[in-house]
Order: sequence, then C-alpha cells, then structure tokens
Amino acid sequence: MVRVAGSLMRRVLGVDLQDELKKHVAAKAADLVRPNMVLGLGSGSTAAFFVADVGRRVVAGELPGLRCVPTSFQASVLANENSLTLTTLNEVDTIDLAVDGADEVDPHLNLTKGGGGCQTEEKLVDARAEQLVIVVDSSKLVHRLGEKMPIPVEVLPLAYRQVGQKLTTIGGKPTLRMAKAKAGPLVTDQGNFILDTEFEQMDNPGQLEEQINNIPGVLDNGLFVGLADKVLVGEEDNGKLSVREL
Ligand code: 5RP
Repeated sequence: MVRVAGSLMRRVLGVDLQDELKKHVAAKAADLVRPNMVLGLGSGSTAAFFVADVGRRVVAGELPGLRCVPTSFQASVLANENSLTLTTLNEVDTIDLAVDGADEVDPHLNLTKGGGGCQTEEKLVDARAEQLVIVVDSSKLVHRLGEKMPIPVEVLPLAYRQVGQKLTTIGGKPTLRMAKAKAGPLVTDQGNFILDTEFEQMDNPGQLEEQINNIPGVLDNGLFVGLADKVLVGEEDNGKLSVREL
C-alpha cells in the first residue's frame, strides 16, 4: 500500500521516477555479471546504481575473481566505496562485459555519450569489451542522435580554438563546456576541454564520428556508433516498472 502510494507520488512529481527506472535497469544488468570476469564500469548516475548492485553481490560472495576497469575517476571512487577490485586497461587482455549509461540511443543502437564528460575513457573501455550493455531510462530513446543534446568533443586545451573553427567548417556549432563550481572551462579527468557541438544534419553518425576524430587536437567524441550489443531500457506504464531489451 505504502509502495503504491509512493510510486504514485513519484509519478506526480516526475523527477524521482527517472531514478527508479535507472535503479531498475541497473539491477537487471548486475545479474549479467559472473565470477572471474573483467568488467568495464561505466560512468554517470545509472552506471553508479549498477556499481552499487555489483558491489552488493561481491560482498555477498557471489562474484569471486571479479576485476573491474573504470571509465572515469567517478567510477573508480564508486568501485572503491562498493568493495570492487580495480584493474586498468594496461593490465588486462580483454574486457568480458562493460555496462555503461548513455545520453541518447537511436533505433540502430548508436549512442551519444559524454554528458558527464568521460566519453574518451568510456569509449576506450566500451570498445574493448566483448559485450557492451547500455543501461538507460526511456527518456534517452531518440529518432536521431543529436536530437536532445550536442556531441561532446574532447580537445587538447591548447587547440580548442582551432578545433572549434574546424568543427564549424563541417557544420557544427561548438560551445566550450564551462565548469559549474569553478571559474572557467570544465576540465576532464584527462586534463582536457570539451566542445559541446550541435549538428543540425546528422545523416551518417559513423562518418561524422570519424570526421571529428580526424581533426588534429581532438582526443575523441561522444558518438558511439556500432559499439552497443544490447540496450536495456527502464520503462513505466501505469505505475508498473519494466525493462525492455533492444
Ligand atoms: C558520462 C556518460 C553517461 O553515461 C551519460 O551521461 C548518462 O548518464 P546518466 O546515467 O547519469 O543519465 O556518458 O560521460
């Protein structure tokens, strides 16, 4: 009874429901983790719920031999807090499974990532994984990438103006991402800047991903094309939460 009332309240307020969906979908992904795996840990709030769930399984003794490769400083801190054993990209031969969030998912399972500014490390880990599972709530589904958010482009600070000019020549509108509680630009975990770049036309995201990465001074960008093997989507219908697999 209390739960029903609680869930109605969340639906009215709207805000908490999204968190409930994220928790729900993260729990489903945590069931995919097996003992002795090398696991890629994504970044962002949905991935954080996943890390907490995997941590509970580790503490319960269900996942001996599990080693985790983080995709950000945030992920490594959360891993430590949740009793997960960390390793690095240079210490592993393969990553069996990576579970990560996304900002947008299109009908071909292509993604926009980097809302948290971690896209370069995320792509290193996600691209290396034998299986990449993306966990999102239903608000992340789009018809076309770039619909809801610009493409984050990580750039060397010394090159941000010249990269910005190049992005303009290929049809982008770049904006230097500013920090929230620090004067000046946001600085990534790797010490770089981010140009959030809007593209009105994005008919071929794979081509655009390569085109952006060919600009000297670019580290990587938030288009993840052809990488996701599975997307788990948390949905709500009449107060009932479920997970759909794409
Ligand atoms: C961080 C990311 C995140 O995975 C993405 O921003 C989704 O975050 P959240 O789960 O908090 O909505 O790409 O760089």
